[in-house]
Amino acid sequence: MNSLETTFAGISLRNPIIVSSSGLTDTAAKCQALDKAGAGAIVLKSILEEQIMQQYDRYSDPTNPEGNDYLNTYLTANSLNTHTMLIKEAKRLCSIPIIASINCSSTDEWTTFAQTVEEAGADAIEINIMEVQTSLDYSYGAYEQKHIDILSRIRKHTRLPVIFKLERQLTNPIALINQLYAGGAAGIVLFNRPYRPDINIDNGNFTAGEMWTRPSDICDALRWTGIASARIPQIDYAISGGVHDGWAAVKAILTGASAVEVCTTLFWNGPQRIEVMLQQMKQWMEERGLHSINQFRARMNAYAAEGSRLFERTQFMKYFSSYRR
Ligand SMILES: Cc1cc2nc3c(=O)[nH]c(=O)nc-3n(C[C@H](O)[C@H](O)[C@H](O)COP(=O)(O)O)c2cc1C
Repeated sequence: MNSLETTFAGISLRNPIIVSSSGLTDTAAKCQALDKAGAGAIVLKSILEEQIMQQYDRYSDPTNPEGNDYLNTYLTANSLNTHTMLIKEAKRLCSIPIIASINCSSTDEWTTFAQTVEEAGADAIEINIMEVQTSLDYSYGAYEQKHIDILSRIRKHTRLPVIFKLERQLTNPIALINQLYAGGAAGIVLFNRPYRPDINIDNGNFTAGEMWTRPSDICDALRWTGIASARIPQIDYAISGGVHDGWAAVKAILTGASAVEVCTTLFWNGPQRIEVMLQQMKQWMEERGLHSINQFRARMNAYAAEGSRLFERTQFMKYFSSYRR
C-alpha cells in the first residue's frame, strides 16, 4: 500500500492535489464537491484588491473626501465579510484544509485580513502580490521588499501559516524565498498566473490573452522549485501552472515540492480529474516500489548531480545547434 499523505505550509494533507484559487472555489458547494472528489486541500477564490479599487473608482466622488473614506471602508469590509462567510461555510461542509486567498498590492489595507480569516476558521492564508512595475523612479528591490513588509505586518495579526504565491518575473526568487522564510512564511507556491493582454487585429480591440495553461508551462516552476528546495529546504513548496495530470505532480515532487495547485485541468475535466491524477501518481509509485511521497520528494532537485547544472542552464546549446528543418 502506498500513501500520498504530505505536508504543505506545515499542514498535513491526505494527498498533494490542492485545488488552486479560481472560480472553481468561489462557493462552499463547489468546495464540498472537490472534497468529495478527493482533493487534498482547497484555496478559495481570492479577494482582489484591484476589484475593490475599481468599484471605488466607479462610485467615489472627488468633491466628498469624507464620503470616499467611508466608501473605501465599506467596500473593503463588504469583501472581507463575503470571504468570511465563504470560509465559514466551506469549513462546515468540507473535511479538508481550507486556505483563504488575497490578491493585494498595498501594504496597509490588508494586514488585518489575516486576523479576520483566522477567526472565520481558515487553516492558512495565501497571499499573492501581483503588480506590473513601470515607474521611472523605481528602485530595484522595492517590489520584493513589499512582499517582506506585507508578511511582517500580517504576522503581527495571526499565527496562521502564511503562504506566498509568487510571480515568475522576479529577478531572483531564491533570495526572496529566503527572506520570506526568515520572516516566518510557511509555504511558497511557484507560480501565479497574471492576466495577460492581447490584441484582436481584426477589430482593433484589446482582449484577454490565453487564460488556460499547457502541460509545458510547468518547466519554469520545475527549475525554480528544484533550486529553491535545495537552497532553502526548510520551507514547503507547491507548484502551480501546467500541472494537468498525476505525472506532472510526480515531477513537481521530484524537484522538491510537497504539493501541487491545480486549476486548468479541473475546469476542463471536472472534479473527477482529481481521482485520475491520484491513480496516476499511485501507479508511478507502485511501479518503483515507493510507499510514500517523502521517499522521492526532492530526489531530483539541484542537489542531484545533474540537477544543479541543468536547473541553472539558460541556453539550448546542443539542442539548438543540432536542430535543423
Ligand atoms: C479562471 C481563472 C481564475 C483564476 N483566479 C485566481 C484567483 O482568484 N487567485 C489566484 O491566486 N489565482 C487565480 N488563478 C490562477 C490559478 O489559481 C492558477 O495559479 C493558474 O491557473 C495556473 O494553474 P493551472 O495550470 O493548473 O491552471 C485563476 C486562474 C483561472 C484560469
